[in-house]
Amino acid sequence: MTPLILGIESSCDDTAAAVLRGRDILSTVVSSQTDLHADFGGVVPEIAARAHVEKLDLCVESALAQAGVGLHDLDAVAVTAGPGLIGGVMSGVMCAKGIAAATGLPLIGVNHLAGHALTPRLTDNVAYPYLMLLVSGGHCQFLRVDSAERFTRLGGTIDDAPGEAFDKVAKLLGLPQPGGPAVEAAARDGDPTAFRFPRPLLDRDGCDLSFSGLKTAVLRARDGALVNGALPSSVRADICAGFQAAVADVLAEKARRALLLCPDATAFAVAGGVAANGAVRTALEQVTPIPFLAPPLALCTDNAAMIAWVGSELFALGRRDGMDLPARPRWPLDEDAAPMLGSGKRGAKA
Ligand code: KG4
Ligand code: ZN
Repeated sequence: MTPLILGIESSCDDTAAAVLRGRDILSTVVSSQTDLHADFGGVVPEIAARAHVEKLDLCVESALAQAGVGLHDLDAVAVTAGPGLIGGVMSGVMCAKGIAAATGLPLIGVNHLAGHALTPRLTDNVAYPYLMLLVSGGHCQFLRVDSAERFTRLGGTIDDAPGEAFDKVAKLLGLPQPGGPAVEAAARDGDPTAFRFPRPLLDRDGCDLSFSGLKTAVLRARDGALVNGALPSSVRADICAGFQAAVADVLAEKARRALLLCPDATAFAVAGGVAANGAVRTALEQVTPIPFLAPPLALCTDNAAMIAWVGSELFALGRRDGMDLPARPRWPLDEDAAPMLGSGKRGAKA
């Protein structure tokens, strides 16, 4: 019988629980804290941790109820043990340890980034090895995925993540947050060639990326285009379209290089909020000679089904953690890769 796994996720501002049997998602519950942090312009770690403590039990309870199972039907409990905001990660790990202690169930600590990286296996049963691009508000990296335990980082951002750049550009242009969808909507009426923004790091070999210079270029373009202190909406649309085209071009060119580094990859998959962007998706699709996969958005953003899935794969490999499982604020997937300069400034959310 395929094992029944409970997944728990609380590494940033979403409290989530899910029950999976193999690729069957029997339930997935996500309780968002967006409203709690709205007034602060970002996630406040103490508020997040407290909210996780309040919501974890309820999320687990409703995930079990929706799946129609009890704790004693489970085969293991998988929990995000990092990376993330430490208070939130600790809350989840303590909740999972409590369940494991009370029931005797095996405990499996999961890397949150592995959750995103293995989602194409949950949704599309993609075979190893494959190439993965994680593009969110906090992360941007190309990964070669060889197994649930083996990841090689081929490159990543040396400063901002693309979602962060979309959010900052939206702010500069007076558009609402989250910036990505707002910039994409505004770009629909714009001319992507009206402003020629830089394509950072294309002159440098390899798959590393940079987005902070692009943001500065947008600031200059905006200041140069103000009419009586205001930005005409047609110019705003052109800036959005030009910025979006630059991000898409850079991601596509670096993806082309990453694909060359993985000649045996079975597929090229993306995950993270920025993967929702039509221009980015189209540009990525155009450079890949192998199948392109973009999981449904609900499974691209933070959720516990992806944690339960990694738990299932690790369970099958025999991984079991003890009550000494640590909660880790930082936990690179590729432990051998040198830390990225400046990456993960906003890093908790991946
Ligand atoms: O993966 P996600 O939901 O959360 C994390 O950051 O982990 O990604 C959110 C990010 C935000 O920065 C948001 O502006 C960006 O993804 N985003 C988009 C779009 N939708 C969301 N960026 C560009 N175009 C979009 N349509
Ligand atoms: Zn994430």
